[in-house]
Amino acid sequence: MTGTSIAGWGTSLPDKIVTNFDLEKILDTNNDWIVERTGIRERRLGGTTESLATAATIKALKTADLDLDSYGGLILATTTPDKTTPGTSALIHKNLGISGFAFDINAACAGFIYSFVVAHQMVKSLNQPIVVVGADTLSRITDMTDRSTAILLADGAGALVIAPSNEEDCLLGYDLQVDGNLEDILYCDLGGYLKMNGKEVFKRAIRAAEKSTNKVVEEAGYSMSDIDLLVPHQANKRIMDALSERLGIPAQKCASVIERTGNTSSASVPLALIDSIESDSLKPGSLILMTGFGAGMTWGSALVRWQ
Ligand code: ACO
Repeated sequence: MTGTSIAGWGTSLPDKIVTNFDLEKILDTNNDWIVERTGIRERRLGGTTESLATAATIKALKTADLDLDSYGGLILATTTPDKTTPGTSALIHKNLGISGFAFDINAACAGFIYSFVVAHQMVKSLNQPIVVVGADTLSRITDMTDRSTAILLADGAGALVIAPSNEEDCLLGYDLQVDGNLEDILYCDLGGYLKMNGKEVFKRAIRAAEKSTNKVVEEAGYSMSDIDLLVPHQANKRIMDALSERLGIPAQKCASVIERTGNTSSASVPLALIDSIESDSLKPGSLILMTGFGAGMTWGSALVRWQ
């Protein structure tokens, strides 16, 4: 087998739904403002990164239906590990009973794109399937008295299995970037809460995602009109709309779950992608353009063929 494909997928969200109306009761905010400025109506809060990631990953393993001993390993994208050490990936790996390695990647909201690219390259070199899961419990680093972040941040997990296949490679191109000079616009000190300069992140996110997606699509020899599905980080609907407009990709080709999930950081891209997979929006050969940005500032994009 010389190529690769996405062979399995699964998601998990906490049971507890927190609506904008619930937040109105504890914060100086209101449903209309949140919907208009962010596109979010409700979000899910609760659980641990291990529990959410394990539940999503069990579903992904089931869809892939591969021998558990055949796995090369597991990569967890997370900004909110449950412990400083061991890595949360080790605990998920134990829960699954698969073979191979496990490690965490922290690249904030670009973490799933980073992890997908690393996992894909390892599938190629090992010729074994690898699980890649994005999971975050941002509610544990959210100051619920800070309306600038409490309305946005939430919890969830989304997992894929990338496996060797007889098709061409599913990853057609990628771009991964970081600028540590921008640490101050979005950060969380150890034991603290996430702090964000929303306006600065907003502006930079659109510019970075536009440049990065254009680079990936051009270098792979395609144009934006070839893209069947844009899967942007679900940070703010206005960022997603501005990006799809600048790229000339119609809104109906832009995967969106933010209305009911909020911003789940490393989980947001897989949650949106898997929502499209499960609603049969993709056909064999469909071109998927994933893009994410987050604290670091990190950003990255990946062009993927659905097989
Ligand atoms: N409810 C009601 N009013 C509010 C709220 C709120 N939650 N927050 C701010 N306001 C008010 C402000 O006080 C201001 O009032 P004023 O005009 O009287 O001074 C007005 O609304 C506008 O405030 P802005 O801060 O300018 O609002 P903006 O349109 O920039 O939206 C937001 C703020 C939603 C945070 C936006 O900047 C944003 O989404 N930024 C990007 C966030 C992001 O992408 N983060 C990504 C990484 S985080 C992560 O992924 C883990």
